[in-house]
Amino acid sequence: MLIHSASQLITMAGPPQRGRELGRLGIIPNGAVLIRDGLIVETGTTLALLNKYPEEERLDANGKAVLPGFVDAHTHLVWAGDRAAEFEMRLQGKSYMEIMAAGGGIASTVKATRSAEHESLLHHTRERAQNMFAHGTTTTEAKTGYGLELNTELAQMEVLLQLDHEGPLEIVPTFLAAHAIPAECAGREDDYTFLICNDMLPALIEWWSRKGAGHPLPFVDVFCEKGAFNLEQTRKILSTAKALGFPLKAHVDEFENLGGAALACELGAASVDHAVKTSAVEIQTLGRSDTAVVSLPCTPFGLAESHFTPAKDLLDADAILALATDLNPGTAWCENMQFVMALACRAMKLTPAQALAASTINAAYAIGRSQIIGSLEAGKQADMLILTVEDYRHLAYRFGGNLVGTVIKKGNIFPQ
Ligand code: NIG
Ligand code: FE
Repeated sequence: MLIHSASQLITMAGPPQRGRELGRLGIIPNGAVLIRDGLIVETGTTLALLNKYPEEERLDANGKAVLPGFVDAHTHLVWAGDRAAEFEMRLQGKSYMEIMAAGGGIASTVKATRSAEHESLLHHTRERAQNMFAHGTTTTEAKTGYGLELNTELAQMEVLLQLDHEGPLEIVPTFLAAHAIPAECAGREDDYTFLICNDMLPALIEWWSRKGAGHPLPFVDVFCEKGAFNLEQTRKILSTAKALGFPLKAHVDEFENLGGAALACELGAASVDHAVKTSAVEIQTLGRSDTAVVSLPCTPFGLAESHFTPAKDLLDADAILALATDLNPGTAWCENMQFVMALACRAMKLTPAQALAASTINAAYAIGRSQIIGSLEAGKQADMLILTVEDYRHLAYRFGGNLVGTVIKKGNIFPQ
């Protein structure tokens, strides 16, 4: 199939975009792209490709912008219940960490998720996945972390694998048993850390060999934060996971700096996420490393706070910056990467081009998939969007709506 007459064909061609290079869109005006068997065969001008492939089935982009599907590099997609009451409490003056310390927060979602039936968990997660896809996300990372004991963590993982199998949204899973200390281990953080390292991770390897359907091992992630896992516990979990062959991620510096970013770089993590309170020294370390920084501007926005990832400093230091929603019931119930871009431009002063590269090729890199998705280049998966507008900048200029008209996933067109 030949998609032609795109006002802007945004190829995002080339490697992930470091530092000040961020925002290299590779635009072909009046562009076209040839897709066969779910893969991209060629990009070029409409004139050239219509001449070269006159017999090919055609899809007219009608003078609208065409671009790679969004990659959401950080979500907590699978949970039960909601936390609307906590949102109200926060607006009345309680902080996120105060609510968490009093047994609310992540713990309340853990309670709801542990007691949810599989079908109900699947149903509510599928609704969110469909909403993401309708807003242009063609691949998402998604974490467990609302079980905090093996069976519920694996039940969450099972939902993720099942929804990935159903499609069309492609799901890259992450194991986040180290999201919080479960109530039954209160005061025994080291015991729970030991349990993760010695029981849960080996059990996950065994489970994956039966249920993983040939997928690569999931990421292992840790919430390195005061009130969650300290630096030493984070090191134990991540280094154990690494020795078992898992790729790594870490939540760092969301509220306080514990040194998690430097540790993640040392261990070769694929990304550090949040990175709000990251120190100047660690920003330089990130800039020299291959570890991506996934910024989650919906989280401070969702918490009605004003501290965002220091994007400009990270770009000056040559870091690889990506964006994601952080979709979760506590801080950021947002399924829409277009809103993330709009917010990133305003709160972190990214340009629309930088925000788009951070939401496609760099986000793909942050989840270890930049060889397969994130740009429109020959050999990559045919994951792309036809907008309802001619100019990609409207994705960030406007906000709160949906400018995605057609989503193409592995060459299949939605709505069909
Ligand atoms: O990334 N920080 C930890 N995890 C989530 C919040 C999860 C929750 O509150 O349920 C985050 O912001
Ligand atoms: Fe998170």
